[in-house]
Amino acid sequence: MNHKVHLMEHPLIAHKITMLRSKDTCVKDFRHLVYEIALLMGYEATKDLPLRDFTVETPLMEAQGKTIAKKITIIPILRAGLGMVDGILDLIPSATVGHIGLYRDHETLKPVEYYCKMPPDITERQVIVVDPMLATGGSAAAAIDFIKQRGANNIKFVCLIAAPEGVKVLTEAHPDVEVYIACLDEKLNEKGYILPGLGDAGDRLFGTL
Ligand code: PRP
Ligand code: URA
Repeated sequence: MNHKVHLMEHPLIAHKITMLRSKDTCVKDFRHLVYEIALLMGYEATKDLPLRDFTVETPLMEAQGKTIAKKITIIPILRAGLGMVDGILDLIPSATVGHIGLYRDHETLKPVEYYCKMPPDITERQVIVVDPMLATGGSAAAAIDFIKQRGANNIKFVCLIAAPEGVKVLTEAHPDVEVYIACLDEKLNEKGYILPGLGDAGDRLFGTL
């Protein structure tokens, strides 16, 4: 495995991913599980954030402490990525949130950006792109292309379930991006769905099945 690819090995994540996969998990529980797993993964994905010294006054005396030295932006890939934003925001409440939406043109099969709104100081920020599914890798690779075109140069990608095909496409297109995966699945089916996967993440999250 590429050293930029991080597979989560925490028992809580493994347990929650299994519950998420079940076809019997209702919309409400699905949404809450996505929130919880994103929070746990956010903890892992921020473990190398830079710190700088920071002095505070305790009620007794001065203490030398640390503060996070990098501003952070979370960018969900619409629409299913939205389900992962709150978990990471609960860890980093001062983070800003950009949005990127893509669709695949039926004739060219190329990803077309239909929405993109980024914070103006994106070049200075640690960007965390979130999307529950990395299937063919087309959406993630294209989204990160568009985000880089806006000036971002420090990007992590956090997903819940990935197919080996998608990991290859993403890491070859963006070798500089750190990729965090809760579970690496077997393969894609002929329609581009991850097997065993969890079905359509957006539909399960928003109840549009
Ligand atoms: C899903 C998922 C990813 C994409 C992954 O979104 O959330 O963005 O598919 O597939 P890929 O790796 O083959 O590109 P989808 O396009 O279904 O849109 P949605 O979030 O609006 O449901
Ligand atoms: N998008 C999803 O939501 N699920 C898959 O399995 C593949 C792409």
